[in-house]
Amino acid sequence: MGTFPNNFIWGAATAAYQIEGGSRIDGRGACIWDDFCDGPDNCVGATGEVACDHYHRLEEDIELMKQLGLKAYRLSASWSRVLPDGRGPVNQAGLDFYDRLVDGLKDAGIEPLVTAYHWDLPSTLQKELGGWAHADLPQIFADYASVLFDRLGDRVAYWLTINEPWCIVDGGYFHGIHAPGISDVPLGYRVGHNLLRGHAYAAARYRASINGTGQISLAINGGSRRPASDEVADVEAAERAMQNFAGWFADPAHYGDYPAVMRQRLGDLLPDFSTEDRLLLTGSMDYLALNYYTSDVIQSAPGNGAMELEVVAQPKLEHTEMDWPIVPQGLRRFLCWMSKRYPSLPVYVTENGAAMADVPDEAGYVDDQDRIAYLRDHLAAASDAVADGVDLRGYFAWTLMDNLEWSLGFSKRFGLIRCDFGTLKRTIKASGHWYANVIRAGGLEPTEIETGVVQ
Ligand code: FCB
Repeated sequence: MGTFPNNFIWGAATAAYQIEGGSRIDGRGACIWDDFCDGPDNCVGATGEVACDHYHRLEEDIELMKQLGLKAYRLSASWSRVLPDGRGPVNQAGLDFYDRLVDGLKDAGIEPLVTAYHWDLPSTLQKELGGWAHADLPQIFADYASVLFDRLGDRVAYWLTINEPWCIVDGGYFHGIHAPGISDVPLGYRVGHNLLRGHAYAAARYRASINGTGQISLAINGGSRRPASDEVADVEAAERAMQNFAGWFADPAHYGDYPAVMRQRLGDLLPDFSTEDRLLLTGSMDYLALNYYTSDVIQSAPGNGAMELEVVAQPKLEHTEMDWPIVPQGLRRFLCWMSKRYPSLPVYVTENGAAMADVPDEAGYVDDQDRIAYLRDHLAAASDAVADGVDLRGYFAWTLMDNLEWSLGFSKRFGLIRCDFGTLKRTIKASGHWYANVIRAGGLEPTEIETGVVQ
């Protein structure tokens, strides 16, 4: 033990659309994920109408968090629950829900971390303005975020503006597999640009607000990009891949512009930031919020795309149910790369976890030793990063309970707690009990670290 600093924040994360349900009640407006999942071929038939019914089970779910001994809980607010049309009058019933949730967490001694936007754009903004592609969206988003800061900011000290802009662009605008289901690369870069501007405007509004004494950032998803060989061309390609991935959003949010390699290779696809936007972006992350699931191996591939590289498959590694290779030491490399490129920022892992083929017994209990191994090996890698000098202050497991995994519906389970989607019964899995022990002990037992694999 002793591998994590004192006062380390042990948490779990969720997102509104994935767990809340209650999508048509108490004044909530529709969001783009409601629309997307209504499409016959999307979300494998699932919708967010009930999901885990967290909207009606808030007390029960906080009780479960207490049983896990969580020190912190990362939630997101549903924009269209708070502002049904994305702007205009506030839906008090919706805002009250988050007020009760935050109060309940505080009463339970659990620190809330609130994400303002985890992908669920109000439908009206998509239909009337074309969503994030519209140049006014950043300001409209900052207005919405300010409603949250004003109402919850006296009790919430940790904020995230936007979750994983990379995924929003890649899934929603490059490949059309996430809402709003568009495949248009130039548009995607414009959307990414406006997401960054939205983050910067909201962060500035937070800092200027009366409640703005806490920390604000945006969640960046990433992983390591290891070169396939020691050849200079592969090493350079792997570094390009990192900058084009995590650097795409972290560089502007820290330094005020995209990485030079992106500017050189993407040319007109990347819009320019105004001088004012650059100023607002620079230093707009109070901490690094990093989501990690897997890592890639990269080799140079002259002529292949703007970055001239390709991903090398890793067939020998174990894969999760998402078909993502399990690479614990990639987390260590990712944390080290980020800390080096954006020095002097405290670091939090704001998501990490695995979808596994859970098999419940008759009582609904899941003995998920594979998920325990995943979490154990990633925590061991995170503690290696601490030993390397990374200022890691917290870790949030993805996710508190099985939920609606976006386009994959209810088919992938990531939870520490099983949710039976028929009865909505919650049952803490073996991994949940294991995580509770880790939290109690303040880290892994030495014996567990020795069993960790090195990859
Ligand atoms: C992340 C998302 C999160 C969840 C996990 C598995 O990209 O932020 O909502 O879907 O992946």
